[in-house]
Amino acid sequence: MIPESFIQELINRVDIVDVIDKSVPLKKAGANYSACCPFHNEKSPSFTVSPTKQFYHCFGCGAHGTAIGFLMEYQGLSFVEAVHELAKMVGMIVPQETRENAKSEAKLIPGLQEALQQASDYYRAELKKSPRAIEYLKGRGLSGQIAARFQMGYAPAGWQNLQTVFGDYQHDVLKTAGLVIENEQGRRYDRFRDRIMFPIHDQKGQVIGFGGRVIESEDDGPKYLNSPETPLFQKGHELYGLFLARRAMRDAGRALVVEGYMDVVALAQYGIEYAVAALGTATTPYHITKLMRQTDEIVFCFDGDAAGLKAAWRAAMNALPALTDGLRLNFLFLPKEHDPDSYVRAFGKEAFEAEMQNAMPLSQYIVQTLSADNPLQSQEDKVRFLNEAEPILKQILAPRLALLLRKRIAELAGVSMDEMRSMIALPDTERRPQKSQPRQQRSTVSLQRQFAIMLLMQPGLALAEDLEWVTGNTDEDNFVRMTLQVALANPRSNPAALLQELQSRVDERLLREIQRELHLFDEKLDVALAFEGSRKQLKDLMSKRRHALLLERIKEKSLSELTDEEKALLKSGRGNQA
Ligand code: UTP
Ligand code: MN
Repeated sequence: MIPESFIQELINRVDIVDVIDKSVPLKKAGANYSACCPFHNEKSPSFTVSPTKQFYHCFGCGAHGTAIGFLMEYQGLSFVEAVHELAKMVGMIVPQETRENAKSEAKLIPGLQEALQQASDYYRAELKKSPRAIEYLKGRGLSGQIAARFQMGYAPAGWQNLQTVFGDYQHDVLKTAGLVIENEQGRRYDRFRDRIMFPIHDQKGQVIGFGGRVIESEDDGPKYLNSPETPLFQKGHELYGLFLARRAMRDAGRALVVEGYMDVVALAQYGIEYAVAALGTATTPYHITKLMRQTDEIVFCFDGDAAGLKAAWRAAMNALPALTDGLRLNFLFLPKEHDPDSYVRAFGKEAFEAEMQNAMPLSQYIVQTLSADNPLQSQEDKVRFLNEAEPILKQILAPRLALLLRKRIAELAGVSMDEMRSMIALPDTERRPQKSQPRQQRSTVSLQRQFAIMLLMQPGLALAEDLEWVTGNTDEDNFVRMTLQVALANPRSNPAALLQELQSRVDERLLREIQRELHLFDEKLDVALAFEGSRKQLKDLMSKRRHALLLERIKEKSLSELTDEEKALLKSGRGNQA
C-alpha cells in the first residue's frame, strides 16, 4: 500500500508531457501536445496530451489516463511499478508500508517474483538430470536449443521436492505463488510433479507463472496444469511466448495466436517466432489490445476440431470492440487432424506461411458463420440472420469495416441499408468525423458535472464555498460533494491528481465519463467566471428541488402538525414559486 497522499504529490510533481514524450515523441498543437496514438494504428495524430489537465486522451480509440496510467498501458507495468518508475524520474522516494503486522499482497510481491524465478531455475536444472523428460521432448521433435530458448524445465516426481529449493517450505510466498498446495490438514505438497514445465513470462521477461504437461499418461490429473491466478499472474491478461515473440512480431508485421504451449514452441523451432498462445482461456479483448501494440495483423490459428471452432468464434467476438480500420484480423483453420505443431512439422514454415496468406478475414468469417446453418430463404430465416448479426454490428466502431459489413449483411438479408438501420439501432460510425467524441453529441453534461469539472480544473475555487447548500442523494449530487471535499483538501492539485484521489470513492464508470468530459473542457475558458455561473445555477436547482420535496411532505400533513420551521419553509417555498 502506497499512501494516497504520496500518489497525489507524485502526480502533481511529474509532467505527463515529459513522461510520454520519452516513448512517444510529442508535437505542440495549440494548448495541447499530439502524436499518432501508440495504442492503436493510425496515420494522422488523434492522441493528445494536456499539460494543464495532466491527462492523455486519444480521440481515435478512446484510450486515456494519467501519467501512471500511461506507463501501465504502454510498458505493461503494474500500478505499483508505474509509481516507482515515475518517482525515479522526479527523484522522489516511495514510502514503504509501515504497518508491521499487515501482510498485504503488495508486500509479498517482491518475494513472489524471486520465488517463481528460483523455482524456474530449479526446474531447468532438473530437466538436464532427467533422461526420461529429455527423451520425451526429443520424441516430440524439440531441439535442445529451442527448449533452452523457452527455458523449459522438468518438475520431478515426488511430493515435496521444492523443500530442497526453499529453506522455508512453510513460507507464505510459496502458496501465494501457487508453487505448493495445502491440503485440508494443512499439509503442503508441490503443485507440479513429474511434469514438463513451461515458464510463463511477463513483458519484461520475468517469470510470473507456469504451465506443466504430463509426460506419458493422463492418469495423473489434467494434461496441462497451470499456475493459479496470483497477484502477478492473470490468465486473461497474459500470452504465452509474448516476451520472446515481440521482436519477431514487429519484424514480420504480424502476430500469430495459437492454442497450445507446444504450438508456440514448435513454430519457433521452425522459424515462425511470432506466435503466442492464450493460456487455456478464450482470447480476451485485453490480449488483442496487447497484440495491437506490436503489429497491425493478427492471425488466429485454431485446431480444426469442434473446440477449436468454438474458440475461434469467441476470439472473433471478443475482438469486435477493439477493431480499427487499420487492423487486420484473419482466421486460419487447419485440417481436422492437425494442430499448428503437427502441421509445421509435417509441411514446414513455407507451407504454414502460405496457409496464413489464405486465412479468412474477420468480416468474411463472421458472414460465413452467420449464414452457415441458415438458408436465408424464408422471412423467418432472414429475421434470425438479422437478429444474430445485430449484437455483432453494434460492437464494431471502425467506420470502414462497419460500413462494409453492414452492407453485406443487409444484402444477404434482402433489405436496404436504410431498412436495416430502421430495424437495428447501430452506432453512428458513418457520420462521425474522425476526431469528434461520440459522447459529446449524445448527452449534454448535467449541471452537477459541469460544476464538478470546473472544480477539478481549478480546485482552489472550492475554498470560497460552504458545502451546506449541496443536498440531494443522486449519484451526481454525491459526486459534487466528493469533489468539493477533495478539492478543499487539495486546492493546488492538478486535475489528474484529483481524479486519482476520487478513484477510491466514486463509481468507476462515472469517473471514466467525467474524465472524458474533463478532456473536452475548453482550456481557453475563464474557469473562475464560468464557475460563478455554474455555482449559481446549481445552487438554484438544489434549493428548488429541496423546496419541492418539502412541499410534497407538508401537503400530507394538516396545518396543526406543522412545525414553525416547516411553516416558514412553506411560506418561502410559495414565495419562490410565485
Ligand atoms: P492442447 O491439448 O491442444 O495442447 O491444449 P497442445 O499444446 O497441443 O498439447 P500437446 O501437443 O498435446 O502437448 C491447448 C492448450 O489448452 C490448455 C493449455 O494451455 C494447452 O496448451 N490446456 C489444455 C490446459 O490448460 N489444460 C489441459 O488439461 C489441456
Ligand atoms: Mn498439440
